[in-house]
Amino acid sequence: MMDKAFSERAGELKARVESVMSAFVDQRVQGESLLAEAVRYAVKTDGKRIRPLLSYATAELLDVPISTADYPAAAIELVHTYSLVHDDLPAMDDDDLRRGQPTVHKAFDEATAILVGDALLTHSFEFLASATVEPALVVQWVQQLARLSGATGMVQGQSTDLEGESRPLALAELETMHRNKSGGLINASLTMIARASGDEGAEKQLADFGHHIGLAFQIRDDILDVEASTEKLGKPKGSDANKNKSTFVSLMGIEVSKQRMQTELEAANTVLDIFGNKADPLRWIANFIVARDF
Ligand code: IPE
Ligand code: IPE
Ligand code: MG
Ligand code: MG
Ligand code: MG
Repeated sequence: MMDKAFSERAGELKARVESVMSAFVDQRVQGESLLAEAVRYAVKTDGKRIRPLLSYATAELLDVPISTADYPAAAIELVHTYSLVHDDLPAMDDDDLRRGQPTVHKAFDEATAILVGDALLTHSFEFLASATVEPALVVQWVQQLARLSGATGMVQGQSTDLEGESRPLALAELETMHRNKSGGLINASLTMIARASGDEGAEKQLADFGHHIGLAFQIRDDILDVEASTEKLGKPKGSDANKNKSTFVSLMGIEVSKQRMQTELEAANTVLDIFGNKADPLRWIANFIVARDF
């Protein structure tokens, strides 16, 4: 399996995490209730699945079985999916399009969208807790995911993002915000797999790699809000500008943002040097993150 370049296997790995997520979600939400339909709708829309790809690439790097990596990969993608459903709500970014489809609160209603997020978040932890690995590892995974997605990670980033609509954030605040709101789950994708390998040195290196690509990822997202098309993005272009948000582009301009993104990519690649060719899948994803046009 390792013989084929990661880029050629990315599609299979994307399909893999999608089937793991769907199999679990279908057990939890059955029948035709409004909530069940809306949860399935949110999970089935087509995302890039970058976080699961990072988990699978890290598993290859550190010789963690893919069947072990499935648990963090799917649990993190469920948390990510919830975060997008809530991010699009009128009280937050108020967007009508996500992954090329009407957002959950548009296809259903606002209360249902809130409850879809609640259900996805809750069951993501249930799924993690069902992993057939050492119980001590499950406990650590739960702690890692909670810290990186809660008020010490993604949720704090989201709160700062909303503050940044009514006052311009300082550059240091903006960087911290990006490292929380996007970097949190990106770091979880890397470090939860490293924890499974038991290699503490590698976990530190990967947290450092995640620190750089997490920031690069969100700078690219800010640039795409200005440069990409709604059709290609599958979400509304210009959403940040419409809400007067503090973004990398609004504070630094597009050229400085692009330079900074490249600097973060280079720093991320330097961290990987120690791992040699085995880190090629992670290098490929890091390059994709800054080069993508959706
Ligand atoms: C969008 O994430 C939300 C941010 C953290 C900027 P992605 O760009 O990974 O969205 P999907 O999952 O591919 O739709
Ligand atoms: C959202 O950031 C990050 C999350 C934690 C969901 P954005 O608001 O920039 O994401 P998009 O641009 O709507 O995908
Ligand atoms: Mg937002
Ligand atoms: Mg948004
Ligand atoms: Mg954005």
